[in-house]
Amino acid sequence: MSASYQAVLWNRQKRIYDLMLGGFVICFLSLFSITTLIVKPEVTAETLIIRSTSTLALFLLHVILCIGPLARLRPIFLPLLYNRRHLGVCMFFVAAVHGIFSIIQFHALGNVNPILSVFLSNTHYESLVKFPFEIFGIVGLTIFFLMAATSHDFWLHNLTPRIWKMFHMGVYIAYASIVLHVLLGALQDEISPALVATLALGCIVVITLHLLAGKRERAKDLTSIQTDQKFVKVGSVHDIQDNRAKVIVLNGERIAIFKYDKRLSAISNVCKHQNGPLGEGKIVDGCVTCPWHGYQYLPHNGSSPPPFREKVSTYDIKVVDEEVWINPSPYPEGTERPAARINLS
Ligand code: HEM
Ligand code: FES
Repeated sequence: MSASYQAVLWNRQKRIYDLMLGGFVICFLSLFSITTLIVKPEVTAETLIIRSTSTLALFLLHVILCIGPLARLRPIFLPLLYNRRHLGVCMFFVAAVHGIFSIIQFHALGNVNPILSVFLSNTHYESLVKFPFEIFGIVGLTIFFLMAATSHDFWLHNLTPRIWKMFHMGVYIAYASIVLHVLLGALQDEISPALVATLALGCIVVITLHLLAGKRERAKDLTSIQTDQKFVKVGSVHDIQDNRAKVIVLNGERIAIFKYDKRLSAISNVCKHQNGPLGEGKIVDGCVTCPWHGYQYLPHNGSSPPPFREKVSTYDIKVVDEEVWINPSPYPEGTERPAARINLS
């Protein structure tokens, strides 16, 4: 959270995650290399490095793109979301090894600067079949670099979550560039048809998951109640589990109603960190805990416990005959509002 950007402290969970990720990278590269050497013993070490790292980066990129929609569709995938930035940075380093080795292998032997050589050695910019496909690799890698370099919470706070999120949506432009890189490379027989077929399957999975998650979010918004009344009845106290929330949409705003200690409080559903869905989290140690990266807020005032400084809006709430009523007008972020007591008969 915000006090001195402490949210990204390396905790035990992150260390275990990074160790597992490092183990996976080593296993993937070893298995890929052994299999390739069995099938094609004449392959050079450089080619092995270029192909194993590119395949791994492509695989990790697909996993990264699937985690968001999967976590929205099934909470069981939420732990993957927690450390997704580490996966992104790892993918960038693996892709960078591929890019650097490709430039050394194919562009470093002449008397032209190797980077310039990528742009100048093949100038068939007018031809789809002969297009210098490496350029799309460079575009993708540059975006991955910018994202990895700004992945720290320091940038999230300085750019604001909205701009940071918009900027990190650049991953889709990078993905499109990498798809073009591979497809145009295949047209020049540089890349195998089997990899193209696997990529097509990966694209279908990524697009399908995004459409399903988008449909689910839209369905939630369509249940939005439009009202100009002071209080609106939003259901029974029995609809909400202890230490959990129910999310309702009033006048287009998502509100999370939390039940804890025989009380109810209503706060904005949107986490200040990266807009995570607070209502899908739970109460831990008396605080609403975001399911994405664990930011916490006190339910009665929407403020993070000291020393943190994040704040979300709060709402007036009351219980009449075990029915829950909400005032749709939000209070300024961090405003204390009395919790509604639940007196069950
Ligand atoms: C500086 C940036 C990059 C350059 C110069 C570059 C260059 C190349 C070259 C020359 C090949 C053909 C290799 C061969 O014939 O064996 C290739 C293949 C490939 N590249 Fe890149 N690339 C770059 C970035 C990327 C990135 C960021 C990704 C993915 C995240 C990527 C994914 C791939 C894949 C999947 C292949 C096919 C590998 C295979 O043949 O099995 N590339 N790239
Ligand atoms: S903690 Fe990251 S979005 Fe809530």
